[in-house]
Amino acid sequence: MATRRPATTSAFRCTECGWTTAKWVGRCGECQQWGSVVEAATVTGIVHSVTASAPVRAARPITQIDTSETPRRTSGVGEFDRVLGGGIVPGAAILLSGEPGVGKSTLLLEVAAQSARAGRRVLYASAEESLGQVRLRAERTGALHDELYLAAETDLATILGHIDEVRPELLIVDSVQTVSSSLTDGVAGHPSQVREVASTLIRVAKERDLPVIIVGHVTKDGSIAGPRILEHLVDVVCQFEGDRQTSLRFVRALKNRFGATDEVGCFDMTGDGIAEVPDPSALFLGHGSNEPGTCVTIALEGRRALPVEVQALTLPATSGNPRRIVSGVDAARVAMVLAVLEKRARIKVSDQDVYVSTVGGVRLVEPAADLAIAMAVASAVTGRSNPAGVVAVGELSLAGEIRAVTQHDQRRSEAARLGYRTVIDRASKTVQSALGDVARLHPVDTRDVPDF
Ligand SMILES: Nc1ncnc2c1ncn2[C@@H]1O[C@H](COP(=O)(O)OP(=O)(O)OP(=O)(O)O)[C@@H](O)[C@H]1O
Ligand SMILES: [Mg+2]
Repeated sequence: MATRRPATTSAFRCTECGWTTAKWVGRCGECQQWGSVVEAATVTGIVHSVTASAPVRAARPITQIDTSETPRRTSGVGEFDRVLGGGIVPGAAILLSGEPGVGKSTLLLEVAAQSARAGRRVLYASAEESLGQVRLRAERTGALHDELYLAAETDLATILGHIDEVRPELLIVDSVQTVSSSLTDGVAGHPSQVREVASTLIRVAKERDLPVIIVGHVTKDGSIAGPRILEHLVDVVCQFEGDRQTSLRFVRALKNRFGATDEVGCFDMTGDGIAEVPDPSALFLGHGSNEPGTCVTIALEGRRALPVEVQALTLPATSGNPRRIVSGVDAARVAMVLAVLEKRARIKVSDQDVYVSTVGGVRLVEPAADLAIAMAVASAVTGRSNPAGVVAVGELSLAGEIRAVTQHDQRRSEAARLGYRTVIDRASKTVQSALGDVARLHPVDTRDVPDF
């Protein structure tokens, strides 16, 4: 028999996740956020009856919905369009998040300039930087245009006023954490403020079919600052990633109501602004000198297959505790690959200091890189170069078997497109036979092999 659940009288609600509780607590029982539980209107349990009102627009059969109402428009930046699923949908709310200084404002200024050049007026509401600062950046990156309107505002109502006056076809708000509404308590950046600002902008976007791009800060752990609900409210969440040491930047979609989320846009940050990198194939390769200790793998960045060179260097260990220094690859995976090499392929590495690195600062985290790491280390230990035109793709099991990888066909076709003739993969079955297959491809003069 079904039991009726009693009506709750929760009087406190978490501003982050919406969890409710009857008593005030310092930490949310659901999302574990500190200080996010605030008093909410008491739910009395009385069921209010809603009276029907005449709909403004009648519900229509799905087959009669005209999709031509929502054509996509290019943002003018091809790599950004790729992430968005082909362009900006009118009325779309897009959240772009990223670490401080990664280049969010620079990218959006470029998008704004491209839109202005295409004759679509843009309003760029800068709540973080003065008009002069934005103008200086625009001069540096070549983004000056008469159809690009700037407003340095932190008040939401004033930004709405600017929208009425300027009548833009694209709105950029930089950033949601620095704009505040006088209708809500708290300073800018407070969860209730962020929610109010974002939901108002999104409502305006939907009412006017005005696409809006909102910049969002990230917290120390890399998640978007502010209430989690922010990510639910918007249509698209894009993350801007980059390494401080390199100029390479990736934009990926974490959520996209209008397209796939596995596309990645690739950019290069230079003093002149942000440049698209439509074909990043050569970025992560060495100079092809074919020294011992290198091996190329085909990695996946989103849906894109990219060749990445793994480099390894081994030296006889000077202490009883050999060093394992890695850069761009996972230290635990390298340790596992070294153990498999020693135990299953009889390549002695336990008396060697091992250094493993990727070229170009790219991070190679997927297990599909295991085989390339193994072949680079084996090549470094034996002093035999891996032959040119060979790539290795495969995950290694502890038993030394080569396992299948995701999107293998796509990696193979990218390897072929780039002129790699041989793909060492699961067909070799084990890491030991893979090393044998490579050696057969390229008989090496062992007189040059250094003696360890
Ligand atoms: N004069 C300059 N010459 C070359 N590069 C510059 C110059 N000024 C800024 N940059 C580059 O632009 C980056 C800052 O870009 P931008 O301001 O777009 O980042 P952001 O993500 O918007 O940062 P914030 O979170 O502070 O708003 C700097 O880290 C730097 O690499
Ligand atoms: Mg900025």
